Amino acid sequence: MNILVIGSGGREHALVWKIAQSPKVKKIYCAPGNAGTAELAENVNINIDDIKGLLKFALEKKIDLTVVGPEMPLVAGIVDLFEEKGLKIFGPNKAAAQIEGSKVFSKEFMAKYDIPTAQAGIFTNSKEAIAYINNVGAPIVVKADGLAAGKGVIVAQTVKEAMAAVNQIMEDKEFGAAGDKVVIEECLVGEEASIIAITDGETIVPLASSQDHKRVFDNDEGPNTGGMGAYSPAPVVTDQLMDTIYNSALEPFMVGMKREGIVYKGVIYAGIMVTKQGPKVLEFNCRFGDPETQPIMMRLESDLVEVFEKTVEGKLQAVNLKWKERAAVCVVLAAGGYPGKYETGLPISGLDKISQLKDAYVFHAGTKGPGVLTAGGRVLGVTALGDTIKFAIDNAYRAVSLISFKGMHYRQDIGKKALKCLRKRARI
Ligand SMILES: Nc1ncnc2c1ncn2[C@@H]1O[C@H](COP(=O)(O)OP(=O)(O)O)[C@@H](O)[C@H]1O
Ligand SMILES: [Mg+2]
Repeated sequence: MNILVIGSGGREHALVWKIAQSPKVKKIYCAPGNAGTAELAENVNINIDDIKGLLKFALEKKIDLTVVGPEMPLVAGIVDLFEEKGLKIFGPNKAAAQIEGSKVFSKEFMAKYDIPTAQAGIFTNSKEAIAYINNVGAPIVVKADGLAAGKGVIVAQTVKEAMAAVNQIMEDKEFGAAGDKVVIEECLVGEEASIIAITDGETIVPLASSQDHKRVFDNDEGPNTGGMGAYSPAPVVTDQLMDTIYNSALEPFMVGMKREGIVYKGVIYAGIMVTKQGPKVLEFNCRFGDPETQPIMMRLESDLVEVFEKTVEGKLQAVNLKWKERAAVCVVLAAGGYPGKYETGLPISGLDKISQLKDAYVFHAGTKGPGVLTAGGRVLGVTALGDTIKFAIDNAYRAVSLISFKGMHYRQDIGKKALKCLRKRARI
């Protein structure tokens, strides 16, 4: 098969890496890809927002299956366009991708189908939004309706901060039309977990659980980022909790989509807050998480291409995923200044030393060749397996210590929450 992967992050490198292990695959293309994907696939210089260009390429190269990494092309309708031309593509169509493309749609959908989530108000007018904030008080969460590259959510500790967020989003239009509406919601307290599942519109196949690390600094301090590291499995998600999430969120999600007349195929990702009252959905995403996909792919034994094919064909029922009984940890190495301003074009050293390590692999995100230079905020995802989460953490940080570039920074505490959770359980 000829496969096209769309995107250029750590997620896409991990997908390409896993796809390359399938005996079904003859050739992989990645658009636009990075220096890491270039080693396993042919990078194609087409951007993720040029969906007509991607279609033209897929037709020309007789691509048998396209896999979409990021949400943007999904929300823009790339799946509808490819399917019209009879091309196989893994991901939800435009109507289905609204679940991530519009937080207002998502919130109304969750309310309609009784999916546990934070209490919220929806506003098209900043005065009413501010009146609501004054009435409810802080802490409170302000969310721009549309896509905002992970920057459209402000967890405000004070009323003043929340009001400033509303003004930024609705008046200053920091995120353009994505800020025509806002969702203002109750601030939930608890531990977060990512539940990523694959569905063909009928069957839901959950992947192994995982946990992201959103904040830039250790102990979850500092501003939000695209994700500074992840691990899988997440011990906070016990088998019992997984059942609850399946029954209270994933299953009603599918029922709801069907009632809305939407065939939902591809990834459904539930961002969960494990609160004292039980798991609540923070949001649904319509694609794989990044960085979560990096540790998840390292643990997956099954042929990913077969899973994608069965999804597109509506035959997921026949799929039974196999996992390594080991833990995986991914530590993101970021550019100096990230998530704020940062430099690019810096040489990276030490990558050659990693290839000698048995249990570690470096997924590239913001890199470009030749010679491997930094080209983004999140530069690399150093990912390692271990027989326990503790060993996986040690293996990942051992690999990290071999790599350097000017200004490089990373969190030192990736996986710590898993250890804490396991220790707490051992005491009980
Ligand atoms: N209701 C909430 N209570 C507490 N924290 C929240 C709430 N909603 C979002 N957050 C925090 O903000 C982050 C981003 O919010 P999310 O809804 O996932 O939007 P996006 O990923 O599109 O930026 C979450 O991972 C979580 O840490
Ligand atoms: Mg999120």
